[in-house]
Amino acid sequence: MSADSSPIERVVVDTGADRYDILIGRGLLGRADIWAGLPKARQAVIVTNSTIGPLWTDALCKALAPHYAQLSTVELPDGEAHKDWSSMNRIFDHLLASTCDRKTVLFALGGGVVGDMTGFAAGCYMRGVPFVQVPTTLLAQVDSSVGGKTAINHPLGKNMIGLFYQPRRVICDLDTLATLPEREYLSGLAEVVKYGPIADAAFFDWLEAQLPALRAREPLALAHAIRRSCEIKADVVGQDEREAGLRAILNFGHTFGHAIETGLGYGEWLHGEAVGCGMLMAADLSVALGLLDPGSAQRLEALVTAAGLPTRAPDLGLSRYLELMGHDKKAEGGHIRYVLLERLGQARVTEADPRIVEQIITRRVELRAS
Ligand code: NAD
Ligand code: GLY
Repeated sequence: MSADSSPIERVVVDTGADRYDILIGRGLLGRADIWAGLPKARQAVIVTNSTIGPLWTDALCKALAPHYAQLSTVELPDGEAHKDWSSMNRIFDHLLASTCDRKTVLFALGGGVVGDMTGFAAGCYMRGVPFVQVPTTLLAQVDSSVGGKTAINHPLGKNMIGLFYQPRRVICDLDTLATLPEREYLSGLAEVVKYGPIADAAFFDWLEAQLPALRAREPLALAHAIRRSCEIKADVVGQDEREAGLRAILNFGHTFGHAIETGLGYGEWLHGEAVGCGMLMAADLSVALGLLDPGSAQRLEALVTAAGLPTRAPDLGLSRYLELMGHDKKAEGGHIRYVLLERLGQARVTEADPRIVEQIITRRVELRAS
């Protein structure tokens, strides 16, 4: 199917206060209708990084040129290690040096790192300017660009400094995934896999059947996976934007996963790799607490393995794991709270006996790589 004739999927996010479209399809950067109707302004600023910029900025500039008289680009250094104040200041320096006013629209062109930082910058600059997500990784298309969580990292914890700030539109051009390295693509698959166990058993079955097509990046399978992931996320965010309760299920695998990412040093394991292994640890814990049947945990492990993601946890030392998990944003009064499974398609957030958690971590660290 050519990019021009392929359908455009539309998912609506409605938080009550904000309502916006997620558009999913091929060739969207080149389609004029996709870029109409955004907030009007004299200036627009594309925030990207040194890897994505050379690949996709020209196409985005072409799409935006009819709508904004002045277009400029900020190119940040690439990598999770640069999701910090120094990069944020580069964005603010550019906005101020270019005399951007409070109507200026920011466009996040990149993966979750660029998207999270651009959203944070947009939420802070002049107390808030509009921004649009143009996600270019699978992870960003199914997760980080949707729902308005924006943040930078702190040496003591991931995504600890940030805002809830919703984009005006999310534009997922499947064609941008063509340049995405394989390891990054697989990292994104982890977040796709996540939606099955937490919310949709039928989607989990579909993923088991369609994983080869997804690994081959077949457009129809990809479009369905992205649309369903976005629908589930939009539904959850629409009910609980600020994570008073339900939204925490989107963090399935993240309590262990964030500890892995932070413990190894940002960038050593990719976010999705850490989440993939973290989901298995959360499933192990669910089984150990008698919530989940072992067969379901085995199916999840088989899917994570088939997605080419690590299943054995790195050896950070037990006390370091527990210390890092204590910084999790779901922790309350010093008690770590876990997203656990009651069955495939149904999650709940609860505390767990620390001795059982220790056993789970130890077992995943010692597991022989198969
Ligand atoms: P990333 O943004 O670091 O991108 C991964 C790599 O791929 C980078 O090197 C990037 O330059 C490169 N890249 C991106 N698009 C490309 C393309 N089309 N072609 C070639 N290279 C490309 O990582 P990510 O996995 O997209 O996002 C991870 C980040 O997202 C983490 O910081 C995580 O905390 C955050 N996140 C946020 C949310 C949220 O709700 N806000 C949810 C999940 C993850
Ligand atoms: N990625 C988790 C969330 O958006 O809540």
